[in-house]
Amino acid sequence: MTARRIVLLGPPGSGKGTQAVRLAEALGVPHISTGDLLRSEVQNRTALGLQAQRFIDKGELVPDQLVAEMIKQRLQGMTGFVLDGFPRNLKQAQILEGVTEVERVLHFRLDREEIVRRLSARRVCPQCGRVYNLLSSPPQRDAVCDLCGVALVQRTDDTPEVIQKRIDVQYAREIGPMLEFYSARSVLREIDAHGDIETVYGAARRALE
Ligand code: AP5
Repeated sequence: MTARRIVLLGPPGSGKGTQAVRLAEALGVPHISTGDLLRSEVQNRTALGLQAQRFIDKGELVPDQLVAEMIKQRLQGMTGFVLDGFPRNLKQAQILEGVTEVERVLHFRLDREEIVRRLSARRVCPQCGRVYNLLSSPPQRDAVCDLCGVALVQRTDDTPEVIQKRIDVQYAREIGPMLEFYSARSVLREIDAHGDIETVYGAARRALE
């Protein structure tokens, strides 16, 4: 049986968002990205957004209780989902366990050089949120969204210093205990994220069976 309550873990730029969109569509379940939810709060200048922005801009994790409340509300009553960006540390993994039973956790592995290369070339549509890459999946016309015709932008946290901080502070420091946690529950699968988008997708699909 194919897993339907899925968590994606991995460093920034390892393709969690790219693969989450495809997996969610194929399985007919929602894609829930805490990064997207937080950016939307920031854009709408909500109380949560105003608090979250300074952490995001510095490349730090937003405090657990703020993100946990947001995700608990979002997951209520859901029987399937692809969760992208939550949990980010052991505490969040424990919170998630109190809300739902995760069936499969995919951990995308990608080396630092490739992370920096991919994130430096990432561009997003400010209107529809579609993600492009100037090297691996460029738009048809220079720097303009294929769907909306709007000029693409670079995320404010995709600068070289903030990328390094996201890798060190958010990922390298936190990933070990989470891998142990999910490995002990026999739901963890490792995915080599160095291949092209199709290859990584194939590996992810196989890991859900
Ligand atoms: P978030 O948006 O989750 O950022 P992230 O984890 O750093 O992940 P990214 O979105 O940067 O990368 P991705 O793995 O999704 O890669 P993508 O598919 O885009 O979080 C942002 C911030 O919000 C955090 O820094 C934090 O402050 C806060 N936050 C979020 N969740 C939180 C939480 N739970 N707790 C506390 N704070 C939280 O791919 C990257 C690029 O590569 C794209 O251009 C893509 O086109 C390209 N690409 C993808 N796959 C391939 C491939 N196989 N080959 C070549 N190119 C590829």
